[in-house]
Amino acid sequence: MAEKASVVVTEGLTRHFDEITAVDDLTIEIYTGEVLGFLGHNGAGKTTTVRLLNGVLTPTSGSVKVLGFDPVRQGAELRRHTGVLTETPSVDERLTGIENLMLYGALFGVPETELEGRVTELLDIFQLEERGADRVSEYSKGMKQKLALARALIHKPSLLFLDEPTSGLDPVITRQVHTIIQDLSQNENNSVFLCTHNLEEAQRLCDRVAVLEYGKLVAFGTPRELARSLWKGLRLEITTSYDAVDAAQNTLTSFKDARDVNQVDGQPIFTLSLPLHDQVPELVAHLVEAGIPLYTLTPQEPTLEDVYFALHADEEVIA
Ligand SMILES: Nc1ncnc2c1ncn2[C@@H]1O[C@H](COP(=O)(O)OP(=O)(O)O)[C@@H](O)[C@H]1O
Ligand SMILES: [Mg+2]
Repeated sequence: MAEKASVVVTEGLTRHFDEITAVDDLTIEIYTGEVLGFLGHNGAGKTTTVRLLNGVLTPTSGSVKVLGFDPVRQGAELRRHTGVLTETPSVDERLTGIENLMLYGALFGVPETELEGRVTELLDIFQLEERGADRVSEYSKGMKQKLALARALIHKPSLLFLDEPTSGLDPVITRQVHTIIQDLSQNENNSVFLCTHNLEEAQRLCDRVAVLEYGKLVAFGTPRELARSLWKGLRLEITTSYDAVDAAQNTLTSFKDARDVNQVDGQPIFTLSLPLHDQVPELVAHLVEAGIPLYTLTPQEPTLEDVYFALHADEEVIA
């Protein structure tokens, strides 16, 4: 198999702000075609990393190459191939959606003959076609966010940075943005660097995830690899009878270590997590003692959330 090409390579990347070490000795390699999730609490260093990778900030020490370019010295060349959706993007409120996109397209060197077509295509993808001629000051937050994302894509960048793209958006727009990211990543030459603190988003969209904590990389791998290596617990599915649903719900929730007890779609099926494998016999005894008929008990793939909670087991608050 041919070796995968790298889009981002950092070694010992570090950035201080006075006494704060926002990014601490980060060594990471991201491959072409990957959707890389960059996970971490508020203040973990995600945005600072994006800025370092884009040449907006200079590293205190360490090295960084993005698409083979040095982001600080070759920022202009690099930006021809990258698109960035910043944490708080600003689109020009006085202009219409179409005008914003035309302006950006011209700025990013989209040939005049192609620009109009590209703008129409993006408005269509983002379901903004009916509002394209309206001033952005009349847009909702979600529409502004979609326009900002469309703008980041105007020059068909091969590497896209998204800094918390769905933060504060309603579920419908979030779903639209997720679909767009998934569609983009179907083209194997596109890579996405996605900062998020939304675990479900990371699990749904990302090929690999990096977990950052106070500037340090604490875990890196596919969600499944991370789960296998970091999580000692077990996620279970339990089937009982229709008659016993209420009793089962109570009995499962009263088991001291059970987490995330959920009934599946009104059926006599429950899912839950246990922090340790060893607790299964105890749970079974607990159910039997309460007279709950146990039809099946099936282990499930752990979620990224399980892993994240395991990583932060000693902390009370997770941002
Ligand atoms: N321009 C700056 N000046 C001083 N401190 C900063 C600056 N930018 C970020 N920081 C600090 O660096 C740390 C990481 O911040 P940031 O990268 O924004 O985290 P995240 O995006 O993961 O929430 C925080 O402690 C933050 O206060
Ligand atoms: Mg941030």
